Amino acid sequence: MDKRYDFDEPVNRIGSDSYKWDVEGKGGELIPLGVADTDFKAPDPVIRAVRQKAEFGVYAYGAFPRKRFQSAVAGWYEKRHGLVLDPAVIRPAQGIMPGALWMLLLALTSPGDTVLIQEPVYHNFRIITENMDRKVISSDLQLQAGRYGINWSDLEEKAKRPEVRALLICNPHNPVGRVWTEVELSRLCNICKENQVLLVSDEIHGDITYGDHKFLPILSIPGADDYAIVMSGPGKTFNLAGFYSAYVLLPNPELRKAYDRVYNQFHFDYNFMGTEALIAAYTECEDYVDQETNYLWENIRTIRDFLSEVMPEIKLIEPEGTYLLWLDCRAWGLTQEELLNLFTGWGVRLNDGSMYGAAGKGFLRINIATQKATLLQALERIQNGYKAWRT
Ligand SMILES: Cc1ncc(COP(=O)(O)O)c(C=O)c1O
Repeated sequence: MDKRYDFDEPVNRIGSDSYKWDVEGKGGELIPLGVADTDFKAPDPVIRAVRQKAEFGVYAYGAFPRKRFQSAVAGWYEKRHGLVLDPAVIRPAQGIMPGALWMLLLALTSPGDTVLIQEPVYHNFRIITENMDRKVISSDLQLQAGRYGINWSDLEEKAKRPEVRALLICNPHNPVGRVWTEVELSRLCNICKENQVLLVSDEIHGDITYGDHKFLPILSIPGADDYAIVMSGPGKTFNLAGFYSAYVLLPNPELRKAYDRVYNQFHFDYNFMGTEALIAAYTECEDYVDQETNYLWENIRTIRDFLSEVMPEIKLIEPEGTYLLWLDCRAWGLTQEELLNLFTGWGVRLNDGSMYGAAGKGFLRINIATQKATLLQALERIQNGYKAWRT
């Protein structure tokens, strides 16, 4: 029988060199609901696998267990997302931002090329691309009747521009919580194909979706193998970001060769602890994800109820996936600084929506992947602060 995980188990991360708790939360002064990691312990098989490597005591050069790694990733995509992958198309990466993205940009684009993104979107898409001397343009997502969608005519016009080399998408989308549908993904594929634009899909949030919203890997769209590339990893789902253990899927042999060239050029080897963590997660821990998703959904319910009862002017953009919620705070008419400072003054640290592009102005992002007790404590602070502010 599957193990029951206790996501309510308190974990005190203060003083553990945690970016969330020690930097954003200032070592306990604020409850941090910002940076996108969870406050949950990794599943037992992951801890066991890492402990086994640690206890061996020799941390010398390793030989990358390519077959085990590729088979774990392929197995995960097949059992969780119904996509049969040729293991040979899977390549390791040192995390997505510290590895996959810049290596793909270096391998497949040139300085001065333009990358198209869809803001509001994970801020490092723009930062890393611009740091690589590539240009970024956004075809902003549109909010209509409480749900974000793609501005197709704008995207099509921008994708046609000759300087646009790649479209970088986020599926499911951080921070607006959309899980792109088959119709939307097929249309994105057609646009990329017609305009000879590479389609890079960040699928790191793909394991966490709610209700009928089913994550569809971009490579399940017929024909996408030629021009689509995936970046993903177990970092979000299993809270393993500190291992920098991610991967890239490159079905097109030419694109794969270009990526391999960069990987080898920089003499990357592999992170042997992180590799074991990934393999254990993907081969032994499906039960963890199912239980985690249910737990997160309860936290979402808590937030939804709280907002409608206590501060109905703030609109929750209903999440279809991810543990990052997008709050429309425009009704308050505050500047971003005022908005963020308001919550900070109440003792809770959230993320500034404008971090994710100009289209995020008036919004905040809240990470609900924490113990329910912590979430309730944060909501109590917010409620008290809000009452005092309103009177
Ligand atoms: C869409 C997306 N991609 C990548 C990352 C970070 O991945 P990594 O820690 O592997 O760089 C995040 C973290 O929030 C994210 O939201």
